[in-house]
Amino acid sequence: MPLLPTDKMKSFILGTGSALPVRILTNAELETMVETSDEWISTRTGIKSRHISGAGEETSKLAGRAAAKALEMAGLTPLDLDLILVGTISSEMSMPSCACLVQKDLGAKNAFAYDLNAACCGFLYGLDMADSYLCRRPEMKIMLIGAETLSSRVDWQDRNTCVLFGDGAGACVVSGAAPGSGMLASKLHADGNLYKLLYMDSARGMNPALANARNQGAFIKMSGRDVFKYAVRTMAGSVKEVLAQTGIKKDEIKMIIPHQANRRIINSLLEHLAIPAEKAYVNMTKYGNTSAASIPIALDEANRKGLLEPGDILLLCAFGGGFTWGAAVIRW
Ligand code: ACO
Repeated sequence: MPLLPTDKMKSFILGTGSALPVRILTNAELETMVETSDEWISTRTGIKSRHISGAGEETSKLAGRAAAKALEMAGLTPLDLDLILVGTISSEMSMPSCACLVQKDLGAKNAFAYDLNAACCGFLYGLDMADSYLCRRPEMKIMLIGAETLSSRVDWQDRNTCVLFGDGAGACVVSGAAPGSGMLASKLHADGNLYKLLYMDSARGMNPALANARNQGAFIKMSGRDVFKYAVRTMAGSVKEVLAQTGIKKDEIKMIIPHQANRRIINSLLEHLAIPAEKAYVNMTKYGNTSAASIPIALDEANRKGLLEPGDILLLCAFGGGFTWGAAVIRW
């Protein structure tokens, strides 16, 4: 027997927000920093520019700005929040969590707060976690944020990675909704055996016994081609799983918001799934890969442009370091 009669409640997005640093770094500027070209970056990735944080634009500050906008849209105040959950791999501090810093800055004193690390899948993993809380307590108001400043975690001399990433934050206020709306299905996966395809060491420690000779600093390392291959295969698999779980047909999907890593990955994914390219929301051209922030930033943009109407079927999918991957279906 279920413990609560509310287990059929679904998590529903009440408001969205996003925040980006002021400074824009173009491909043309990158040409002066590493041996690359606008042509190479554009054709291989679809990225033309990205936002890079300056002073006062740390991960928690961007997260707080995105959260404030989401609260405003939801018509709520910081005191209404029960939980702040931040997906991030690039907070300015290891402790406290980015979520606690956001809680402090917002003055959300009724909320408990923590971060989760699922790399670029941070937002999807967080949505699934929020859904679990809301099955127990549908009245909860959860601030779910994806926020990153990966500009601080790339080696600016490594052209294989530094051209790909950008900074930013996206946020959603999530609460319980009646069955039939909100998040209809979510399927998450991980395979730690693949971690060497995409990883970031931590800061060098003070215990020589634990020193890692391989650790050249806390920078992103990546085997681009392998990541590409797994990204398409894994995301396609989880999209098929959530569609099968819900019985939703591909032609019922209004919009797909994939993790914004690379235009070619998205094109291959859509081709593989036989979903028309125009159904994908793509904004990495302006922002690059903002990791856990990419889906909520895109969601906020689509929402504020009025592209989503009540009842629309929305498909989210992501992949990232870990390896982690997954997909979710939402009725808007
Ligand atoms: N400018 C110019 N040349 C470059 C650059 C650059 N910025 N970066 C690499 N190259 C060179 C390489 O050195 C290589 O030269 P070589 O043949 O002389 O050795 C050549 O370009 C081809 O390199 P490849 O790695 O084979 O290029 P590929 O076509 O695979 O494209 C890319 C590289 C864009 C990274 C692609 O593999 C990719 O998109 N992979 C997915 C990576 C990704 O999305 N990562 C982010 C996910 S992680 C996350 O979201 C957290």
